[in-house]
Amino acid sequence: MIDLHSHILPGLDDGSSSVAESLEMARLAVADGTTHMVCTPHVMPGVYQNDTASIEQAVQALEQELRHAGIPLALYVGADVHVTPDLPDRLKLGKVPTLNRSRYFLFEPPHHILPPRLEDLASRLTNAGYVPILTHPERLTWIKSNYDVIERLNALGCLIQLTADSVIGAFGRTALYYSEKLLDEGRVDIIASDTHGATRRRPGLSQAVVAIANRCGEDEAYNMAVKRPGAILQNQLVAPIGKVSAKKSGASSAGHFGGLGRLFKSGSL
Ligand SMILES: [Fe+2]
Repeated sequence: MIDLHSHILPGLDDGSSSVAESLEMARLAVADGTTHMVCTPHVMPGVYQNDTASIEQAVQALEQELRHAGIPLALYVGADVHVTPDLPDRLKLGKVPTLNRSRYFLFEPPHHILPPRLEDLASRLTNAGYVPILTHPERLTWIKSNYDVIERLNALGCLIQLTADSVIGAFGRTALYYSEKLLDEGRVDIIASDTHGATRRRPGLSQAVVAIANRCGEDEAYNMAVKRPGAILQNQLVAPIGKVSAKKSGASSAGHFGGLGRLFKSGSL
């Protein structure tokens, strides 16, 4: 499986605190079936001053550690990009990295406040040729009174990424409710771990993938964990699935680990 959202780089944000923790996170991810992981530290001016150069350097350093430790996890450069009005310029100048230098980047609005003119910003980004991937809308507290904003961002061309732990209820009932609503409306393009540590918010997608397979069918679970993330890393076109219902009847509740074997063995893009 391919995890497009992780805070595995040590010491750059509120994720991994040490190389040892990063290695343990990598081991856990591989044991769970993840083969490729994008390193996406927070980029938040004034709080987390990461940029393309510092993230690339940190990815190279961790790749070397993984090689020494014999952990087969492929790493890529990315960022968890917080919303700022000058984002189109910072992306264009190359100061903020997209996912593996593609047109796609993680687009994270504030959790508790809906920023003004968010849709204008998304339009400017899509008009400039970028594809924002809206990170974990199910966990944004303003989703309750502003669900229409999520719908419109999706209609503008933003992809939707759910957090794996939300789908299995680990972020509480509200995040689970909106995860299932977004899944049932066929709006979810990608599932990712957004892992922050080896003990707290650990890596792993498999439990969520099984839950999604049960709800939406195995093909859609495969699309969210392997096919679309792989296409994104190769900068191929991924249209938002938008309003097409992904809910399928007759998905059996048994044997999904067996049936989903292709997800847990996928080794190359
Ligand atoms: Fe994140």
